[in-house]
Amino acid sequence: MEALLKLQELGLSNIVFHQLDVLDPISIKSLANFIQEKCGRLDILVNNAGASGVVVDEEGLKALNIDPSSWLSGQAYKLIELHGVIKTNYEKAEECLNTNYHGVRRVTEALLPLLQLSPAGARIVNVSSLRSELKRIPGEHIRKELSDVETLTEERLEAVIRRFLHDLKENALEGNGWPLMVPAYSISKATLNAYTRILANKFPNMCINCVNPGYVKTNINWNTGTMSVEEGARGPVILSL
Ligand SMILES: NC(=O)c1ccc[n+]([C@@H]2O[C@H](COP(=O)([O-])OP(=O)(O)OC[C@H]3O[C@@H](n4cnc5c(N)ncnc54)[C@H](OP(=O)(O)O)[C@@H]3O)[C@@H](O)[C@H]2O)c1
Repeated sequence: MEALLKLQELGLSNIVFHQLDVLDPISIKSLANFIQEKCGRLDILVNNAGASGVVVDEEGLKALNIDPSSWLSGQAYKLIELHGVIKTNYEKAEECLNTNYHGVRRVTEALLPLLQLSPAGARIVNVSSLRSELKRIPGEHIRKELSDVETLTEERLEAVIRRFLHDLKENALEGNGWPLMVPAYSISKATLNAYTRILANKFPNMCINCVNPGYVKTNINWNTGTMSVEEGARGPVILSL
C-alpha cells in the first residue's frame, strides 16, 4: 500500500497490486488467477525477487569499509572470510536457491499461459547479477555444463543445484570448483541465466532476457552499493519496454 501511494503521488494512477511469495505455490496460483481475471493476459513479467543466501554481521561489514572495486571483483572474499562477517549456512543457501532460481521458475511457469496470449510477443526480464558470470566459477566442468546451450535442460539445472547443496553440506565447495564469494547467490544467478536461455529457445516469439542491474544501494548488499535504485532500474526497464 505504501509503494502504491508513493507511485500515485508521482501521477501513476492505473496501478493494482497483489501479494506474492515466490516460495509459496498457493500465493503464485492466486496471483495468476488475479491477473487472468483482471487483465485476461500478461505482456511483461519482471522476476525481481532475490535473496542473498548469507548471514551478515552488518556492523562488522561496514567497519571493514570494503572498496567497491574489490567487492565487485570478488577479491573482498579473503577479507570477509578472515573477519567472518559474511557466512553461508545450508538453510540460507537453500532459501536463496529456492527464491532466486526455483521461485523464478515457478512464477514463470504459472504465468506462461497468460504471457502466451500477449499479441505482440511477451517480455520476460530475469534480474541477474555480476556474481553469475561463468568466469567467476573456478570449476571448468561447472562452467561447461552451464554454458552448453545445446544440452541445457531444467533437469540438468536441478542436478547442478542438488550437487552444489550436497557439496556445501559436506564442506566441499572449494575442492569441487564452486565459487566461494556468496556461493549460493552466485550459483542461483548462474542457473537463472541458464534457465533464461532455455526459455528463450523454447519461446522464440517472446523477448526473454536476464540483466545485471549494477551495484545498487539496497538491502540485498546491506546498502553497500554505489548506484541509486533509479539507476539500477534502467536495465530491467529497457528490456521490459
Ligand atoms: N542491489 C544490487 O546491487 C544487485 C546487484 C545484482 C543483482 N541484484 C538483484 O536485484 C533484485 C532486486 O534486489 P534489490 O537489490 O532490490 O534487493 P532488496 O532490496 O533486498 O530486494 C529484494 C526483494 O525481493 C523480495 N523477495 C525476497 N524473497 C521473496 C519472496 N519469497 N517472495 C517475493 N518477494 C521476495 C523482497 O521482498 P520483501 O521486501 O517483501 O522481503 C524485496 O522486495 C534481486 O534479484 C537481486 O539479486 C541486485
